[in-house]
Amino acid sequence: MSEEQPALPNRQSPFSEAFKEFICTDWAPYSDVLPEQLPASVAAVARREALSALFPGDRLVVPAGGLKVRSNDTDYRYRPHSAFAHLTGLGTDREPDAVLVLEPVDTVDGPSSGHSATLYFKPRAPRTDPEFYSNARYGEMWVGQRESLEEMAALTGLDCAPIDQLSDDLAKDADSTRIRVVRDTDTALTVELDQQRDQAGQTEVEAADTELTVALSELRLTKDDFEVEQMRLACDRTAEGFAAVVADLPEAVRRGRGERWVEGIFGLYARHAGNAVGYDTIAASGDHANTLHWIRNDGDLHDGDLLLIDAGVELDTLYTADITRTLPVSGRFSPTQRKVYEAVLEAQEAAMAVCRPGVKFAQVHEAAITVIAQRLHEWGILPVPPEVSLDKETGGHHRRWMVHGTSHHLGIDVHDCAQARQEHYRQGELKEGMIITVEPGIYFKGTDLLVPEEFRGIGVRIEDDILITADGHENLSSMLPRTADDVEAWMAPLLEQGR
Ligand code: GLY
Ligand code: MN
Ligand code: MN
Repeated sequence: MSEEQPALPNRQSPFSEAFKEFICTDWAPYSDVLPEQLPASVAAVARREALSALFPGDRLVVPAGGLKVRSNDTDYRYRPHSAFAHLTGLGTDREPDAVLVLEPVDTVDGPSSGHSATLYFKPRAPRTDPEFYSNARYGEMWVGQRESLEEMAALTGLDCAPIDQLSDDLAKDADSTRIRVVRDTDTALTVELDQQRDQAGQTEVEAADTELTVALSELRLTKDDFEVEQMRLACDRTAEGFAAVVADLPEAVRRGRGERWVEGIFGLYARHAGNAVGYDTIAASGDHANTLHWIRNDGDLHDGDLLLIDAGVELDTLYTADITRTLPVSGRFSPTQRKVYEAVLEAQEAAMAVCRPGVKFAQVHEAAITVIAQRLHEWGILPVPPEVSLDKETGGHHRRWMVHGTSHHLGIDVHDCAQARQEHYRQGELKEGMIITVEPGIYFKGTDLLVPEEFRGIGVRIEDDILITADGHENLSSMLPRTADDVEAWMAPLLEQGR
């Protein structure tokens, strides 16, 4: 259920009886043309089947989650839970308070491993219902015309039922059916199901729920063809946003608070070409690049500094890119900036080179940090030999200058599959269809006394989105330049546009 908004008498005025009658009249009928099925929902069928096979005989409950209050009677823009989006194909702002239920089906031979899927949601009320004009969260006058049961069924290819029916349906056979729910996405529903399972004598329900959550995360470790296409598109759109940012860098320098200008230009592209940004854009100039999650973005841009931009367009299907480029604001790297940049690039090349099926996820990171430790040592910065620093038990000195990992899974969530078990993620192997980032960096904070002065205040990260293929990998973000020379050559005509 959506988070409750506080009662705000100051914001409400009663409707007269005359208004209530008048408002319900003279509206054109609803169209009887049903919407086309969402392509994402076609791909979701096989995902539901894969989930079904993991939990034979269990009732599986996957809520979309409700609206969250930002302040008073204003909500955050809605985004469904990623597992719900993955299993239904619904994206953008669909569908607050909806719940997908996979119900085990019996066959003539006894219990089967199959499930039937039903999407419970709040269908639109007719225009004769006060919801039409008085419900700011669901009413047509406030949020637009929402789907009927038939329209939602056409969009998703799912059987649909009104949300009011959910509690009764969940109570059926509650004594004999094991129920698993994605906990806390819909708090009220979690509480209701905990009580129901308690009464039915089901034990260890939290552990059973965790198994579902883990399975949903692991289902997304390898992407299907539809998902790969979406990720390609997300990278294309992100690259267009990066080019627009570069074309407007001269304006960002002129205006002051240029980091915000950069964030805004990218945000415009993300909102226009997709659903939104996939995470808050990091627009970090100069020493700000050394704050890993710099999203305040209130700094100026100066010719002579680097700008680290880490940003991704999230499509309407919610698949997001996650790309970083570190760009010279003037269009040309200084010799010291180039030295750091090329070390990071070398680390990234080494990490990408190992990306193929069968290689351990951790080896990608090891390849990157081996290069970084070597370069730091050559520059006289690493206080121990690289092999000592690279020893996991006793070393780790290089981490002072790259404290984050090199890779994470990417998909509907920017940090996708985060609930997957260690043996399938950090300690797992790469498989065909996985998409991971490769994003080494070197960060020399302005206050780092161990670093020669010429390096201080330089932070560089290069991040690309890598699809693991049958015999290697494909860089989905390769349309953006990576070598220092290519970056300069790409920027020159774009900067010229903006001058
Ligand atoms: N943008 C967040 C990350 O790179 O992981
Ligand atoms: Mn990343
Ligand atoms: Mn990133």
